[in-house]
Amino acid sequence: MLVLTGIGTLVTNDVTLERGKLGVINNAALVVGDDNKVALACEAVNLPRELRTNAVDIGGRAVIPGFVDSHTHLVFGGDRALEFEARMSGKPYTAGGIRTTMSATRGASNDKLAENARRLANEALHTGTTTLETKSGYGLSVLDETRSLQVAASITSETTFLGAHVVPPDSQIDDYVNLVCGEMLAQCAPSAKWIDVFCDRGAFEVDHARAILSAGAKAGLGMRIHANQLQHGGGVQLGVELGVASCDHCTHLNDADVSALADSNGSTVATLLPTAELCTRSQFPDARRLIDAGVTVALASDCNPGSSYTTSMPLVISLAVLNMNMTCEEAVWSATAGGAAALRRQDIGTLKIGASADFTVLNTPSYIHLAYRPGVKLVDAVFRLGGCVAGSLL
Ligand code: NIG
Ligand code: FE
Repeated sequence: MLVLTGIGTLVTNDVTLERGKLGVINNAALVVGDDNKVALACEAVNLPRELRTNAVDIGGRAVIPGFVDSHTHLVFGGDRALEFEARMSGKPYTAGGIRTTMSATRGASNDKLAENARRLANEALHTGTTTLETKSGYGLSVLDETRSLQVAASITSETTFLGAHVVPPDSQIDDYVNLVCGEMLAQCAPSAKWIDVFCDRGAFEVDHARAILSAGAKAGLGMRIHANQLQHGGGVQLGVELGVASCDHCTHLNDADVSALADSNGSTVATLLPTAELCTRSQFPDARRLIDAGVTVALASDCNPGSSYTTSMPLVISLAVLNMNMTCEEAVWSATAGGAAALRRQDIGTLKIGASADFTVLNTPSYIHLAYRPGVKLVDAVFRLGGCVAGSLL
Protein backbone atom coordinates (compact mmCIF):
# COMPACT_ATOMS: atom_id res chain seq x y z
CA MET A 1 0.00 0.00 0.00
CA LEU A 2 1.21 3.52 -0.87
CA VAL A 3 -0.19 6.60 0.86
CA LEU A 4 0.65 10.11 -0.35
CA THR A 5 -0.38 13.21 1.62
CA GLY A 6 0.45 16.89 1.29
CA ILE A 7 -0.79 16.89 -2.34
CA GLY A 8 -1.33 20.59 -3.14
CA THR A 9 -3.70 19.84 -6.03
CA LEU A 10 -4.94 16.37 -6.93
CA VAL A 11 -6.51 15.97 -10.38
CA THR A 12 -8.80 12.92 -10.35
CA ASN A 13 -10.91 13.50 -13.51
CA ASP A 14 -13.76 12.15 -11.39
CA VAL A 15 -16.85 14.18 -12.34
CA THR A 16 -18.94 12.46 -9.68
CA LEU A 17 -17.01 14.54 -7.11
CA GLU A 18 -18.75 17.63 -8.56
CA ARG A 19 -15.48 19.57 -8.46
CA GLY A 20 -15.32 20.59 -12.12
CA LYS A 21 -14.19 18.65 -15.17
CA LEU A 22 -10.92 17.68 -13.48
CA GLY A 23 -12.43 16.60 -10.14
CA VAL A 24 -9.79 18.63 -8.30
CA ILE A 25 -9.14 17.99 -4.60
CA ASN A 26 -6.93 20.54 -2.82
CA ASN A 27 -4.71 19.55 0.14
CA ALA A 28 -5.34 15.94 -0.79
CA ALA A 29 -4.28 12.40 -0.04
CA LEU A 30 -4.06 9.50 -2.45
CA VAL A 31 -4.03 5.85 -1.43
CA VAL A 32 -2.93 3.01 -3.71
CA GLY A 33 -4.10 -0.47 -2.70
CA ASP A 34 -2.17 -3.72 -2.94
CA ASP A 35 -3.96 -4.36 -6.24
CA ASN A 36 -2.07 -1.31 -7.67
CA LYS A 37 -5.32 0.57 -8.13
CA VAL A 38 -6.50 3.81 -6.56
CA ALA A 39 -8.09 2.88 -3.23
CA LEU A 40 -8.89 6.39 -1.99
CA ALA A 41 -8.59 10.02 -3.16
CA CYS A 42 -9.72 12.51 -0.53
CA GLU A 43 -8.88 15.66 1.41
CA ALA A 44 -5.87 14.90 3.60
CA VAL A 45 -7.82 15.81 6.74
CA ASN A 46 -10.22 12.98 5.93
CA LEU A 47 -7.51 10.34 5.57
CA PRO A 48 -8.35 7.53 8.03
CA ARG A 49 -6.05 7.63 11.07
CA GLU A 50 -4.66 4.10 10.51
CA LEU A 51 -3.37 5.15 7.05
CA ARG A 52 -1.43 8.15 8.34
CA THR A 53 1.46 6.26 9.91
CA ASN A 54 3.30 5.36 6.70
CA ALA A 55 2.08 8.28 4.61
CA VAL A 56 4.61 10.12 2.43
CA ASP A 57 4.13 13.91 2.57
CA ILE A 58 4.93 15.37 -0.86
CA GLY A 59 5.06 18.95 0.35
CA GLY A 60 2.29 20.64 -1.61
CA ARG A 61 3.16 19.35 -5.09
CA ALA A 62 0.45 18.58 -7.66
CA VAL A 63 -0.51 15.06 -8.71
CA ILE A 64 -2.24 14.36 -12.02
CA PRO A 65 -3.21 11.16 -13.86
CA GLY A 66 -0.43 9.91 -16.13
CA PHE A 67 -0.72 11.26 -19.65
CA VAL A 68 -2.35 8.94 -22.18
CA ASP A 69 -0.63 9.67 -25.49
CA SER A 70 -3.08 8.03 -27.87
CA HIS A 71 -1.20 8.75 -31.12
CA THR A 72 2.51 8.13 -31.74
CA HIS A 73 4.68 6.58 -34.47
CA LEU A 74 7.71 5.28 -32.55
CA VAL A 75 8.80 2.42 -34.81
CA PHE A 76 11.12 3.84 -37.42
CA GLY A 77 14.76 4.05 -38.50
CA GLY A 78 16.84 7.19 -39.05
CA ASP A 79 15.58 10.73 -38.70
CA ARG A 80 14.65 13.60 -41.03
CA ALA A 81 16.63 16.51 -39.61
CA LEU A 82 17.63 17.70 -43.09
CA GLU A 83 14.00 17.67 -44.23
CA PHE A 84 13.14 19.70 -41.13
CA GLU A 85 15.85 22.21 -41.91
CA ALA A 86 14.66 22.50 -45.53
CA ARG A 87 11.09 23.03 -44.26
CA MET A 88 12.25 25.79 -41.96
CA SER A 89 13.80 27.40 -45.03
CA GLY A 90 10.45 27.40 -46.81
CA LYS A 91 9.96 23.94 -48.36
CA PRO A 92 6.39 22.71 -47.61
CA TYR A 93 5.62 19.54 -45.63
CA THR A 94 4.21 16.67 -47.73
CA ALA A 95 3.21 13.06 -47.01
CA GLY A 96 6.03 12.01 -49.37
CA GLY A 97 8.66 12.27 -46.60
CA ILE A 98 7.24 9.06 -45.16
CA ARG A 99 9.03 7.18 -47.95
CA THR A 100 12.42 8.48 -46.73
CA THR A 101 11.75 6.94 -43.33
CA MET A 102 10.48 3.78 -45.03
CA SER A 103 13.94 3.19 -46.54
CA ALA A 104 15.68 3.75 -43.20
CA THR A 105 13.19 1.49 -41.44
CA ARG A 106 13.59 -1.33 -43.93
CA GLY A 107 17.36 -1.05 -43.47
CA ALA A 108 17.21 -1.25 -39.66
CA SER A 109 17.40 -4.53 -37.72
CA ASN A 110 14.62 -5.50 -35.31
CA ASP A 111 16.98 -4.75 -32.42
CA LYS A 112 17.75 -1.30 -33.76
CA LEU A 113 14.05 -0.51 -34.27
CA ALA A 114 13.23 -1.76 -30.78
CA GLU A 115 16.08 0.23 -29.22
CA ASN A 116 14.87 3.43 -30.89
CA ALA A 117 11.22 2.85 -29.96
CA ARG A 118 12.20 2.09 -26.35
CA ARG A 119 14.34 5.22 -26.19
CA LEU A 120 11.37 7.34 -27.24
CA ALA A 121 8.92 5.53 -24.95
CA ASN A 122 11.33 6.13 -22.08
CA GLU A 123 11.62 9.80 -23.02
CA ALA A 124 7.81 10.01 -22.96
CA LEU A 125 7.67 8.28 -19.57
CA HIS A 126 10.03 10.88 -18.08
CA THR A 127 7.69 13.67 -19.16
CA GLY A 128 4.72 11.95 -17.51
CA THR A 129 3.26 9.64 -20.17
CA THR A 130 2.18 6.37 -18.56
CA THR A 131 0.29 4.87 -21.52
CA LEU A 132 1.04 5.31 -25.19
CA GLU A 133 -0.33 4.01 -28.43
CA THR A 134 2.10 3.40 -31.25
CA LYS A 135 1.86 2.42 -34.91
CA SER A 136 3.60 0.64 -37.73
CA GLY A 137 3.56 2.52 -41.03
CA TYR A 138 7.18 2.97 -42.04
CA GLY A 139 7.73 -0.58 -43.30
CA LEU A 140 5.12 -0.65 -46.10
CA SER A 141 5.86 -4.28 -47.02
CA VAL A 142 4.45 -7.44 -45.47
CA LEU A 143 7.75 -8.29 -43.80
CA ASP A 144 8.58 -4.78 -42.58
CA GLU A 145 5.08 -3.95 -41.33
CA THR A 146 4.92 -7.29 -39.49
CA ARG A 147 8.23 -6.77 -37.71
CA SER A 148 7.35 -3.13 -36.99
CA LEU A 149 4.21 -4.30 -35.19
CA GLN A 150 6.15 -6.91 -33.26
CA VAL A 151 8.48 -4.15 -32.09
CA ALA A 152 5.48 -1.96 -31.22
CA ALA A 153 3.94 -4.82 -29.22
CA SER A 154 7.16 -5.11 -27.20
CA ILE A 155 6.63 -1.59 -25.79
CA THR A 156 2.83 -1.22 -25.49
CA SER A 157 -0.44 -3.12 -25.75
CA GLU A 158 -1.96 -0.21 -27.71
CA THR A 159 -0.57 -1.12 -31.12
CA THR A 160 -1.91 0.07 -34.47
CA PHE A 161 -1.45 -1.37 -37.95
CA LEU A 162 -0.83 1.55 -40.33
CA GLY A 163 0.23 -0.29 -43.48
CA ALA A 164 -1.89 2.35 -45.26
CA HIS A 165 0.40 5.26 -44.38
CA VAL A 166 1.37 5.98 -48.01
CA VAL A 167 1.74 3.82 -51.12
CA PRO A 168 5.37 2.65 -51.32
CA PRO A 169 7.42 3.45 -54.45
CA ASP A 170 7.01 0.95 -57.30
CA SER A 171 3.49 -0.04 -56.20
CA GLN A 172 0.16 0.76 -57.83
CA ILE A 173 -2.41 2.04 -55.39
CA ASP A 174 -5.08 -0.62 -56.08
CA ASP A 175 -2.54 -3.44 -55.77
CA TYR A 176 -1.19 -1.98 -52.56
CA VAL A 177 -4.65 -1.58 -51.03
CA ASN A 178 -5.35 -5.24 -51.85
CA LEU A 179 -2.08 -6.22 -50.19
CA VAL A 180 -2.88 -4.15 -47.07
CA CYS A 181 -6.36 -5.69 -46.82
CA GLY A 182 -5.11 -9.19 -47.54
CA GLU A 183 -1.74 -10.72 -46.69
CA MET A 184 -0.34 -7.72 -44.80
CA LEU A 185 -3.37 -7.48 -42.52
CA ALA A 186 -3.32 -11.25 -41.92
CA GLN A 187 0.35 -11.12 -40.84
CA CYS A 188 0.02 -7.94 -38.78
CA ALA A 189 -3.31 -8.51 -37.02
CA PRO A 190 -1.92 -10.86 -34.35
CA SER A 191 0.32 -8.04 -33.03
CA ALA A 192 -2.19 -5.21 -33.53
CA LYS A 193 -5.14 -3.93 -31.53
CA TRP A 194 -6.12 -1.16 -33.98
CA ILE A 195 -6.08 -0.36 -37.69
CA ASP A 196 -5.48 3.14 -39.04
CA VAL A 197 -5.34 4.81 -42.49
CA PHE A 198 -3.79 8.14 -43.52
CA CYS A 199 -6.73 9.55 -45.47
CA ASP A 200 -5.38 12.78 -46.92
CA ARG A 201 -3.65 14.50 -49.83
CA GLY A 202 -0.76 12.37 -51.09
CA ALA A 203 -1.94 9.30 -49.18
CA PHE A 204 -5.31 7.44 -49.43
CA GLU A 205 -8.74 8.51 -50.71
CA VAL A 206 -11.97 7.87 -48.85
CA ASP A 207 -12.95 4.75 -50.82
CA HIS A 208 -9.64 3.06 -50.17
CA ALA A 209 -9.74 4.12 -46.53
CA ARG A 210 -13.21 2.61 -46.20
CA ALA A 211 -12.04 -0.72 -47.68
CA ILE A 212 -8.97 -0.86 -45.43
CA LEU A 213 -10.74 0.06 -42.18
CA SER A 214 -13.58 -2.37 -42.92
CA ALA A 215 -11.10 -5.20 -43.60
CA GLY A 216 -9.37 -4.41 -40.30
CA ALA A 217 -12.64 -4.42 -38.39
CA LYS A 218 -13.52 -7.77 -39.97
CA ALA A 219 -10.19 -9.10 -38.70
CA GLY A 220 -11.16 -7.99 -35.19
CA LEU A 221 -9.21 -4.72 -34.97
CA GLY A 222 -10.57 -1.45 -33.60
CA MET A 223 -10.57 1.45 -36.07
CA ARG A 224 -8.95 4.90 -36.01
CA ILE A 225 -8.13 7.32 -38.85
CA HIS A 226 -5.67 10.08 -39.73
CA ALA A 227 -8.00 12.60 -41.34
CA ASN A 228 -8.19 16.21 -42.51
CA GLN A 229 -4.60 17.09 -41.60
CA LEU A 230 -3.30 18.55 -44.85
CA GLN A 231 -6.55 19.56 -46.50
CA HIS A 232 -10.30 19.23 -46.16
CA GLY A 233 -11.66 15.85 -47.27
CA GLY A 234 -14.12 13.12 -46.40
CA GLY A 235 -11.96 11.33 -43.83
CA VAL A 236 -13.62 12.64 -40.68
CA GLN A 237 -17.13 11.88 -41.91
CA LEU A 238 -16.03 8.42 -43.03
CA GLY A 239 -14.55 7.84 -39.58
CA VAL A 240 -17.77 8.81 -37.82
CA GLU A 241 -19.84 6.72 -40.25
CA LEU A 242 -17.71 3.65 -39.53
CA GLY A 243 -17.71 4.34 -35.78
CA VAL A 244 -13.93 4.73 -35.40
CA ALA A 245 -12.64 5.35 -31.87
CA SER A 246 -10.81 8.48 -32.98
CA CYS A 247 -10.36 10.85 -35.92
CA ASP A 248 -6.86 12.23 -35.61
CA HIS A 249 -5.53 15.65 -36.70
CA CYS A 250 -8.92 17.30 -37.58
CA THR A 251 -7.19 20.46 -38.75
CA HIS A 252 -9.37 21.27 -41.78
CA LEU A 253 -13.03 20.81 -40.80
CA ASN A 254 -16.30 22.16 -42.14
CA ASP A 255 -19.54 22.48 -40.17
CA ALA A 256 -20.76 19.05 -41.30
CA ASP A 257 -17.57 17.41 -39.97
CA VAL A 258 -17.95 19.12 -36.60
CA SER A 259 -21.64 18.13 -36.40
CA ALA A 260 -20.84 14.53 -37.33
CA LEU A 261 -18.25 14.31 -34.54
CA ALA A 262 -20.62 15.96 -32.06
CA ASP A 263 -23.50 13.66 -33.06
CA SER A 264 -21.36 10.63 -32.26
CA ASN A 265 -21.85 11.59 -28.59
CA GLY A 266 -18.25 10.97 -27.66
CA SER A 267 -18.08 7.59 -29.35
CA THR A 268 -15.69 9.07 -31.94
CA VAL A 269 -13.10 11.33 -30.30
CA ALA A 270 -11.32 14.14 -32.17
CA THR A 271 -7.62 13.79 -31.37
CA LEU A 272 -5.68 17.00 -31.91
CA LEU A 273 -1.91 16.92 -32.44
CA PRO A 274 -0.68 20.50 -32.11
CA THR A 275 3.03 19.68 -32.20
CA ALA A 276 2.47 18.48 -35.80
CA GLU A 277 1.18 21.92 -36.70
CA LEU A 278 4.00 23.55 -34.71
CA CYS A 279 6.71 21.56 -36.48
CA THR A 280 5.22 21.98 -39.96
CA ARG A 281 4.38 25.66 -39.41
CA SER A 282 0.74 24.97 -40.21
CA GLN A 283 -2.49 26.39 -38.86
CA PHE A 284 -3.57 24.88 -35.55
CA PRO A 285 -6.87 22.95 -35.36
CA ASP A 286 -9.82 24.90 -33.96
CA ALA A 287 -10.18 23.18 -30.60
CA ARG A 288 -12.67 25.76 -29.31
CA ARG A 289 -15.09 25.12 -32.14
CA LEU A 290 -14.99 21.37 -31.47
CA ILE A 291 -15.36 21.64 -27.70
CA ASP A 292 -18.12 24.25 -27.95
CA ALA A 293 -20.00 21.91 -30.33
CA GLY A 294 -19.81 19.12 -27.73
CA VAL A 295 -17.09 17.00 -29.36
CA THR A 296 -14.86 14.92 -27.06
CA VAL A 297 -11.31 16.14 -27.70
CA ALA A 298 -8.07 14.29 -26.96
CA LEU A 299 -4.56 15.69 -27.20
CA ALA A 300 -1.60 13.56 -28.31
CA SER A 301 2.00 14.04 -29.47
CA ASP A 302 2.00 12.33 -32.91
CA CYS A 303 5.68 11.65 -32.19
CA ASN A 304 7.25 10.73 -35.56
CA PRO A 305 10.46 11.65 -37.39
CA GLY A 306 8.71 13.81 -40.01
CA SER A 307 6.00 16.13 -38.78
CA SER A 308 6.35 16.06 -34.98
CA TYR A 309 9.56 14.74 -33.46
CA THR A 310 8.62 15.22 -29.82
CA THR A 311 7.26 12.99 -27.07
CA SER A 312 6.41 15.85 -24.72
CA MET A 313 2.79 15.94 -23.58
CA PRO A 314 3.54 19.04 -21.41
CA LEU A 315 4.53 20.83 -24.64
CA VAL A 316 1.31 19.61 -26.29
CA ILE A 317 -0.70 21.00 -23.35
CA SER A 318 1.02 24.36 -23.42
CA LEU A 319 0.39 24.70 -27.18
CA ALA A 320 -3.26 23.69 -26.77
CA VAL A 321 -3.73 26.42 -24.18
CA LEU A 322 -1.54 29.14 -25.66
CA ASN A 323 -2.31 28.64 -29.37
CA MET A 324 -5.62 26.78 -29.52
CA ASN A 325 -7.71 28.58 -26.93
CA MET A 326 -8.24 25.56 -24.72
CA THR A 327 -8.45 26.25 -21.00
CA CYS A 328 -5.79 24.68 -18.76
CA GLU A 329 -8.51 22.44 -17.35
CA GLU A 330 -9.63 21.26 -20.81
CA ALA A 331 -6.08 20.64 -22.01
CA VAL A 332 -5.11 18.53 -18.98
CA TRP A 333 -8.36 16.56 -19.29
CA SER A 334 -7.79 15.96 -23.01
CA ALA A 335 -4.21 14.76 -22.42
CA THR A 336 -5.34 12.25 -19.78
CA ALA A 337 -9.03 11.19 -19.78
CA GLY A 338 -9.41 12.34 -23.41
CA GLY A 339 -6.54 10.10 -24.53
CA ALA A 340 -8.10 7.22 -22.61
CA ALA A 341 -11.43 7.86 -24.38
CA ALA A 342 -9.63 7.81 -27.75
CA LEU A 343 -8.34 4.35 -26.82
CA ARG A 344 -11.72 3.33 -25.38
CA ARG A 345 -10.10 2.66 -22.01
CA GLN A 346 -11.88 3.25 -18.72
CA ASP A 347 -9.11 1.97 -16.44
CA ILE A 348 -6.61 4.76 -17.15
CA GLY A 349 -6.61 8.56 -17.52
CA THR A 350 -8.33 9.14 -14.17
CA LEU A 351 -7.53 8.71 -10.48
CA LYS A 352 -11.02 7.53 -9.56
CA ILE A 353 -11.27 4.75 -7.03
CA GLY A 354 -10.53 1.49 -8.88
CA ALA A 355 -8.50 3.14 -11.68
CA SER A 356 -4.98 1.97 -12.44
CA ALA A 357 -2.60 3.89 -10.14
CA ASP A 358 -0.78 5.65 -13.00
CA PHE A 359 0.08 9.20 -12.00
CA THR A 360 2.63 11.97 -12.20
CA VAL A 361 3.94 14.15 -9.39
CA LEU A 362 4.74 17.64 -10.67
CA ASN A 363 7.26 19.94 -9.04
CA THR A 364 4.62 22.69 -8.99
CA PRO A 365 1.56 23.27 -6.78
CA SER A 366 -0.94 23.13 -9.67
CA TYR A 367 -1.62 21.53 -13.07
CA ILE A 368 -1.94 25.08 -14.44
CA HIS A 369 1.85 25.32 -14.56
CA LEU A 370 1.89 22.78 -17.41
CA ALA A 371 0.72 25.59 -19.69
CA TYR A 372 1.99 28.52 -17.63
CA ARG A 373 5.64 27.33 -17.68
CA PRO A 374 6.15 26.17 -21.28
CA GLY A 375 9.29 24.20 -22.04
CA VAL A 376 10.30 23.75 -18.39
CA LYS A 377 10.84 20.33 -16.80
CA LEU A 378 7.93 20.05 -14.37
CA VAL A 379 7.78 16.31 -13.68
CA ASP A 380 9.35 15.04 -10.47
CA ALA A 381 8.15 11.44 -10.41
CA VAL A 382 6.06 9.10 -12.53
CA PHE A 383 4.15 6.14 -11.09
CA ARG A 384 2.72 3.26 -13.06
CA LEU A 385 0.59 0.61 -11.32
CA GLY A 386 1.49 2.26 -8.01
CA GLY A 387 5.27 1.93 -8.50
CA CYS A 388 7.72 4.76 -9.21
CA VAL A 389 9.02 4.18 -12.76
CA ALA A 390 10.75 7.53 -13.43
CA GLY A 391 12.23 10.28 -11.26
CA SER A 392 11.73 10.26 -7.50
CA LEU A 393 9.77 11.92 -4.73
CA LEU A 394 12.92 13.26 -3.07
O1 NIG B 1 0.61 11.84 -38.29
N1 NIG B 1 0.01 12.19 -41.09
C1 NIG B 1 0.56 11.12 -41.29
N2 NIG B 1 1.57 10.61 -40.60
C2 NIG B 1 2.38 11.32 -39.70
C3 NIG B 1 3.54 11.96 -40.38
C4 NIG B 1 4.46 10.99 -40.90
C5 NIG B 1 5.75 11.50 -41.43
O2 NIG B 1 5.87 12.61 -41.98
O3 NIG B 1 6.71 10.72 -41.31
C6 NIG B 1 1.54 12.31 -38.93
O4 NIG B 1 1.79 13.52 -38.92
FE1 FE C 1 0.20 10.43 -37.03
